[in-house]
Amino acid sequence: MNDKPRKILVTSALPYANGPIHIGHLVEYIQTDIWVRFQKMRGHQCLYVCADDAHGTPIMLRARQEGIEPEELIRRIGEEHQRDFADFGIGFDNYHSTHSEENREYATLIYRRLRDKGHIASRTITQAYDPVEEMFLPDRFIKGECPKCGAADQYGDNCEACGASYSPSELKNPVSVVSGAKPVDKASEHYFFKLADFEAMLRDWTKGGHLQPEVANKLDEWFEAGLQEWDISRDAPYFGFEIPDHPGKYFYVWLDAPIGYMASFKNLCNKQGPDDAQGSANVTAGRKPGVTFDAFWNRDSDAELYHFIGKDIIYFHALFWPAMLEGADFRTPTAIFAHGFLTVNGQKMSKSRGTFIKARTYLNHLNPEYLRYYFAAKLGSGVEDIDLNLEDFTQRVNSDLVGKVVNIASRCAGFIKKRFDGRLSAELPEPALFDEFIQAGELIADCYEKREFGRAAREIMALADRANQYIDEKKPWVIAREEGKEQELHHVCSMGINLFRLLIGYLRPILPATAEKSEAFLQVKPLTWEALATPLTGHAIAKFKPLMTRVEPKQIEAMLEASREDLASQDAKKTKPHETRTEGHLAKDPIADTIEFGDFAKVDLRVARIARAEQVEGADKLLRLTLDLGGETRNVFAGIKSAYAPEDLEGRLTVMVANLAPRKMRFGVSEGMVLAAGPGGKELFILEPHAGAEPGMKVK
Ligand code: MSP
Ligand code: ZN
Repeated sequence: MNDKPRKILVTSALPYANGPIHIGHLVEYIQTDIWVRFQKMRGHQCLYVCADDAHGTPIMLRARQEGIEPEELIRRIGEEHQRDFADFGIGFDNYHSTHSEENREYATLIYRRLRDKGHIASRTITQAYDPVEEMFLPDRFIKGECPKCGAADQYGDNCEACGASYSPSELKNPVSVVSGAKPVDKASEHYFFKLADFEAMLRDWTKGGHLQPEVANKLDEWFEAGLQEWDISRDAPYFGFEIPDHPGKYFYVWLDAPIGYMASFKNLCNKQGPDDAQGSANVTAGRKPGVTFDAFWNRDSDAELYHFIGKDIIYFHALFWPAMLEGADFRTPTAIFAHGFLTVNGQKMSKSRGTFIKARTYLNHLNPEYLRYYFAAKLGSGVEDIDLNLEDFTQRVNSDLVGKVVNIASRCAGFIKKRFDGRLSAELPEPALFDEFIQAGELIADCYEKREFGRAAREIMALADRANQYIDEKKPWVIAREEGKEQELHHVCSMGINLFRLLIGYLRPILPATAEKSEAFLQVKPLTWEALATPLTGHAIAKFKPLMTRVEPKQIEAMLEASREDLASQDAKKTKPHETRTEGHLAKDPIADTIEFGDFAKVDLRVARIARAEQVEGADKLLRLTLDLGGETRNVFAGIKSAYAPEDLEGRLTVMVANLAPRKMRFGVSEGMVLAAGPGGKELFILEPHAGAEPGMKVK
């Protein structure tokens, strides 16, 4: 290996602490982890830090809804995230939280430095305010009717029915999602980061090779549009850090989120104790070589700093973040690496199709190494979206990993064990072939370095084909039965095992768990790029155990099914926030306040015949029912699509609430409600009236 050791700090974006990790997130964490593992294998000091992004209104409200403190929520979710990541082999050197003392310290420091240099402005702005909850409402916490098409129940910034974009103030009959109250306008003082102060610096930086070309182009568009002041403050109540000189005002979550990268790194430094240039004391104590914060973050740092992010958060990382660092006298990132979004079977991940797959659901059914390999095979250095096609996934993993790579070891290991006492031959019969593999290793390393993982995977599979071809030509299973061919058999199988070792070495950043099992089988230390160049000869190996099994289509089916179930149980739990309010707070699925018998008696239940049942285009859960009440017909939308096909319903009798006020829904007006019970998903049963019931009869 010829490059000199580098000091590298790498981050992935910090996942929000209000939801589970899903396979879309994993594109990023797997991509980053592969790159980091590669750098470590090359002998560089590479540190990978991350944290949960724990602040903001959604987290505050989610905690309220569960009836717990935000600290409790972020602790629980933080643990879940870390378990998911660990089980996918994501090897963080440190995982922290933005709700930490280190982060408060750096957020405060950076803010003070920016303020003292005049980069913070203040002004009064007017925003939507919930008079009941006494809080300002972010756009997504306001709902109302679309100003364009009139669809009900639309979020503050765009309409799901007609696709129009607008500002929340244009919504008709707006309501606060938190309390159900009508928002009012209210003024308050806000603090702004003057991004335009950094325009010259950012324009330079954009051209300095720190960004992918397509990202740099995007930035040019943003420069043309003009750099706006960025609102970095929020009013109480807010879950975050209070701004030091402005009690009652908090840093907006996106101000302290990227600073979380620093905080996690600082936390790592603290854990490792004082700096130790040689790293020897810490290494003997079983810890990593000591690192100092300043060596990585000072303006004159010679360390490299890389942020892996999704394309949706480029503005924050390529504009705000370098400007904040520059303004606060810290170094700026060496590069930002943005990636595209994940689609499944060519479409956006969808809860109803079962393709909104949580990391945990995947782990319950499939080996994480499969997904690591598949993503790697699909990833390049650009920002294109990547598609997880589940058929292609099955086929690719089975043919490449199981069919080509693991197979080589299993074809040779038995003979070595049985015939040669588990020991490899003292020399290799085909040094030229071995060298060919080592040469190819440099190209593969170059692909990894440039994040062309798909290309790396293709090169490695070409070598695997070459190795299989060698074995097919030599036919050890034939030689094994021939007299006087002991040495040839020994040589061929030792050669095969050596080629397998190189393949696993090259795949190691992608398949850490399989590499670890292979290292145990080969009885070697963790493979480094440098170590690969020396062949394994005269060396005893262990008994071969299967390294990986095939993907079975039924596992995929089960995973999709379970994802649909996840959805059903979520729906069953979900109640609109304002429907569960008690004493101004959102409580955990409480029993509603009592109603009088008279209230109950107002419900007019009638037998209805389902005259027609139809799919509703664009609706995930709804069926459109035409109900016959014995003369009168009603149009009702029912959320029972997960349990019934339309043809199963037509002609059946059921029970409906006949005097429910008509309600305008996204797909039309619903004139009543059919009654169904069950946990959800497939297990949802519409009520059936007693025998002899007739449409229109009152149900008692
Ligand atoms: N909390 C912010 C990041 C703060 S970084 C200082 C955030 N969190 S997130 O949980 O929404 O996303 C975390 C990362 O996962 C982001 O880089 C995001 O782009 C990425 N992805 C989330 N969903 C994704 C897909 N469906 N596909 C690919 N990446 C996705 O943003
Ligand atoms: Zn609309």
